[in-house]
Amino acid sequence: MRIALLGCGVVGSETVRLLQANAADLAARVGAPLELAGIAVRRPGRARALDVDPALFTGDAAGLVARDDVDIVIELVGGIEPARSWLLSALRGGKSVVTANKALLASDGATLHDAAAAAGTDLYYEAAVAGAIPLIRPLRESMAGDRVHRVLGIVNGTTNFVLTRMDEIGASFTEALAEAGALGYAEADPSADIDGFDAAAKAAIMAQLAFHSRVTIDDVYRVGIGEVTTADIASARELGCTVKALVVAERSAETEGISVRVHPAMIPRTHPLAGVREAFNAVFVESEAAGQLMFYGQGAGGAPTASAVLGDVVAVARNRIAGRRGPGESSYAALPVLPMGRT
Ligand code: HSE
Repeated sequence: MRIALLGCGVVGSETVRLLQANAADLAARVGAPLELAGIAVRRPGRARALDVDPALFTGDAAGLVARDDVDIVIELVGGIEPARSWLLSALRGGKSVVTANKALLASDGATLHDAAAAAGTDLYYEAAVAGAIPLIRPLRESMAGDRVHRVLGIVNGTTNFVLTRMDEIGASFTEALAEAGALGYAEADPSADIDGFDAAAKAAIMAQLAFHSRVTIDDVYRVGIGEVTTADIASARELGCTVKALVVAERSAETEGISVRVHPAMIPRTHPLAGVREAFNAVFVESEAAGQLMFYGQGAGGAPTASAVLGDVVAVARNRIAGRRGPGESSYAALPVLPMGRT
């Protein structure tokens, strides 16, 4: 199985390292070796700390994706374009795609799903939401027979890290954000984290899967944590609460519709989400038959996110070898997304 990697930052480098370190085990699990066909980066001339053949690096992502000897494309570049064009070209060429691109899936996931279905190939994206935590596959497959009522949780590691540091050691917002950046949690532009765009994208993706509905990031009510002060956190503490950036996606109790939102909230210190510290994420899913489920783990960072990427790579490689396709897009209900405040 020949792999093209697009993007080699924090997550991409860890993906390469793990592919190499665990090559024999992965080959045994898949039934064929997983080989890198090329790594597309913006500046191929820049020295890399990775122990790979320098000839693998290229600045021509489109050319790499189009190559006949590529079976699987891993996209870790992020953003809408040019990632969308590369992934559409890969899918139309029958390649399997593994992506962590939450912004793209949340704004135009339907186009990618349609292209994958038309070509009879796979589109997997476990790493797009909550880093290492298996959440996409449970929502997309394990819970597909149930009726989800609500998804609630913390899905941005950077803002959770910042709020934890402000709460526990009285760190300033700026100091805590700089630390989250140095640890590889924050987006290239950390305003995506702070202003809630990253969490809103993840909320839209979870809502798409949970409610079989074409929710996009534009449907998500969004408030970031930029205006949360140490004084707010101290006031919350006096009330026995802590401040967390929450995502909520829920089915209306009264009308056929859903509401999806992202905003800081005070929660009691006794609530399980209050104990979710630093870059950890946690998501509760409530459904008709399963009741309440909780998913918890490292939601950001190189190795945890690479774990989710590689899980998808193994899955799509196994599917290719078996000549089958993984789960497609669920049949979509035209559930209206209700304005904020209507549930
Ligand atoms: N910036 C993201 C976060 C990375 O902090 O959660 C993981 O998606």
